[in-house]
Amino acid sequence: MMRRKKDSVTVMVLCLLFLFSWVFPGTSFASNISESQLQEIQQQWQSSIHALNEVNCSSCHIDEKSKAFRAKPTEVSCKSCHEYSTDTFLLGKHGIRTLEGLSPLSPTMAHLPMKKSALDKQMNCNSCHNVHTVNTYQASVDSCLSCHNDTHSLNYKNSPHAQIVADIGVLPRPDSKSVTCATCHLPREVSGDGVLVNHNNTYTLKPRDRMVKEVCMNCHGLEHAYNSIFDDELVEANFAHPPSLELPTFKLVRDLEKKRSSQQTQ
Ligand code: HEC
Ligand code: HEC
Ligand code: HEC
Ligand code: HEC
Ligand code: HEC
Ligand code: HEC
Repeated sequence: MMRRKKDSVTVMVLCLLFLFSWVFPGTSFASNISESQLQEIQQQWQSSIHALNEVNCSSCHIDEKSKAFRAKPTEVSCKSCHEYSTDTFLLGKHGIRTLEGLSPLSPTMAHLPMKKSALDKQMNCNSCHNVHTVNTYQASVDSCLSCHNDTHSLNYKNSPHAQIVADIGVLPRPDSKSVTCATCHLPREVSGDGVLVNHNNTYTLKPRDRMVKEVCMNCHGLEHAYNSIFDDELVEANFAHPPSLELPTFKLVRDLEKKRSSQQTQ
């Protein structure tokens, strides 16, 4: 039974490969893509979690309603199965232009420093995800650094957080003990369906201390987290050392505690 299912999937993939290369010779898709590139895509897909779940070439490349062929599917094709990722993506800085029907965000529009090699990119699901492997490890840091080029971003690789990721090593999904760019900027949320990723990259920045509760306090104490988040130099260094800031509120609270406990012992 399983065996037959696998065979029929393989047949379908071969048919689509055939379709892609011969039925649409007029599309830019067919003229730019070589047989070996198609084979590579097919192999990437075959070992992906999508293939395991029978999400096939046609799931993304054929429009459900009109049955039209799409050479380069957009977030619309993902949304039918990943509503939460898509909706949250569209609400953050990365996706809001698309939501508003403007051209997608591009590094050319940025005021933050961006890699020169990224200037012709446009923001979509495939800017971070290799849509054929859908491996989220590469999406969590390497994809970000293909565009972002500011000091904070570049300093990440020298931080203890990056060291944890390196020590754990490459898994299909970053381990929950690791801290990637995405841990802080696209936080995981536990829901009825398991763990979903909030793709709104503005959410944990505004207000700034939202990140403390949503992210840091999974691992650090309140005081360490607050003192770190409001220490501008430490943010710039991407948390490469302990905070030097001591927010006065915490000192006040501690002094009060001391006073109270000494009164109690008297
Ligand atoms: C999860 C959805 C999804 C699945 C499944 C999928 N693709 Fe794609 N594919 C995309 C997206 C999105 C793009 C556009 C990527 C881009 O613009 O960089 C794409 C791009 C491509 C391209 C390159 C188009 C170009 O002109 O650069 C080819 C070829 C391709 N897919 C073939 C396939 C084949 C063959 C399969 C099945 C083995 C497959 N895809 C499965 C989403 C998917
Ligand atoms: C037909 C439904 C369907 C479509 C369309 C689809 N996916 Fe998926 N996707 C799934 C399923 C099922 C899983 C398996 C994990 C799960 O249960 O959520 C998955 C998993 C993923 C994962 C997680 C991989 C991991 O290691 O956990 C990513 C990332 C992903 N998809 C991205 C995309 C993107 C990007 C698109 C559009 C280009 C897309 N998907 C289109 C059904 C779909
Ligand atoms: C295709 C290029 C590209 C990729 C890939 C990318 N970004 Fe961005 N990102 C941008 C651009 C462009 C902006 C807007 C910058 C500006 O306006 O100055 C931005 C803005 C941001 C902001 C600021 C949000 C705000 O509301 O001000 C954060 C945080 C961010 N990105 C984090 C990430 C993370 C984390 C990743 C990887 C998981 C990532 N980005 C991947 C291009 C990219
Ligand atoms: C431990 C959490 C953490 C990690 C890891 C982290 N960041 Fe940040 N990031 C922050 C905080 C906090 C800020 C500052 C928020 C502020 O200034 O209001 C910030 C700011 C930013 C901004 C600037 C937003 C703006 O408008 O000025 C970008 C872009 C960004 N991060 C990208 C990245 C990228 C890319 C990585 C990985 C290479 C990364 N961050 C890793 C916590 C983190
Ligand atoms: C800025 C980079 C970036 C963009 C853009 C992006 N993703 Fe993701 N996505 C990630 C990262 C990183 C993870 C894994 C984070 C983690 O597990 O800590 C992820 C995880 C996922 C997952 C698995 C977790 C879940 O919530 O089910 C799905 C599905 C997914 N993305 C779909 C999408 C879709 C659909 C789009 C476009 C609407 C998209 N992503 C755009 C970086 C991105
Ligand atoms: C998944 C767990 C985890 C999360 C989430 C996390 N960290 Fe960390 N962080 C660690 C570990 C582990 C270390 C390295 C060991 C140590 O020195 O405590 C570390 C180190 C640090 C350091 C530098 C070293 C030190 O001794 O203080 C700072 C600063 C820091 N984290 C701040 C933050 C901030 C701010 C956040 C939220 C934006 C955050 N971390 C989120 C686990 C985490």
